[in-house]
Amino acid sequence: MTEAAVPDAIAERLTPFPTDHFLSATDLNPPAAHALLDLADAFAEHNRQTSSRPLDLMAGRTVVNLFFENSTRTSSSFEIAAKRLGADVVTMPVQASSVAKGETLIDTAVTLNAMAPEILVVRHGASGAAHLLSQKVGCAVVNAGDGRHQHPTQALLDALTIRRTFGDVGGLTVAICGDVAHSRVARSNIALLSMLGARVRLVGPPTLIPSAAARWGCEVFHHMREGLAGADVVMMLRLQLERMEGALIPSTREYFRFWGLDREKLAWAAPGAKVMHPGPMNRGVEIDSDVADDLTVSLIQQQVEMGVAARMAVLAALTERRHGGGR
Ligand code: NCD
Repeated sequence: MTEAAVPDAIAERLTPFPTDHFLSATDLNPPAAHALLDLADAFAEHNRQTSSRPLDLMAGRTVVNLFFENSTRTSSSFEIAAKRLGADVVTMPVQASSVAKGETLIDTAVTLNAMAPEILVVRHGASGAAHLLSQKVGCAVVNAGDGRHQHPTQALLDALTIRRTFGDVGGLTVAICGDVAHSRVARSNIALLSMLGARVRLVGPPTLIPSAAARWGCEVFHHMREGLAGADVVMMLRLQLERMEGALIPSTREYFRFWGLDREKLAWAAPGAKVMHPGPMNRGVEIDSDVADDLTVSLIQQQVEMGVAARMAVLAALTERRHGGGR
């Protein structure tokens, strides 16, 4: 398929990524974050044109998706984003690859690196895995989630969704609710949303809010009613049972009663409050379907749509950093 020329609205906003890799939301600073959001906005509009052909921003370049943990939306979102930029994409089915034969993370990455990809997108269960890889390869590394540590493109797509809905992130009160302890989404969002001027609250039972949270500059609440009072955005987190050691909650039924977002609890938030969730959702555990599927309050589908635009912005800006105008 022939690639399309880059529309002016995108070309004007394309600036180099501030760092060689995107490993953490803290790699950004306020001007860089706003520049990426502006670029992502332009991609979002472009993506809505049904006839859009792939752009030539990454033509002839390869993006490798390396997912050691299961993923539906993040891996497909990166794949679509890279294809829309004209890149060739290889998604490694890690279960069926040499990894299943015991090849280590580093061996796998070094092997893939020898095939000279432009960007390696990595998800791994160990915190710090993407950082480790970035020191071993010659391409740019994008962290698509490392353990409970960081998931920076999720924070970017969440900020994009919030900015498009409210016009600005600054000045909003965002309540991040539930299993903060095991959530890389929470850690990345705390960093980016605070950087953009939002007031971030953490709301959950003491067993699911890490004690370090006091140092993160967020207000902490152990009751939904108090935590949601006046919140403009209610961001629910998945209860990450696979990362829990020991019983941190009595039962999922009881969890829903106290912490699950339903209409009654949502009414405690500010008038016009919006609901977010990174997916996958445990319906009836941390969120009621009635709220999740109500398009007048739920931004969950928009988050998925904005995921593609935000990842296009990251991939394009990293390529711009590596090659400048010399595409
Ligand atoms: C999140 C993740 O993998 O960290 N999901 C996602 O990227 N869409 C959140 C989660 O798994 O609960």
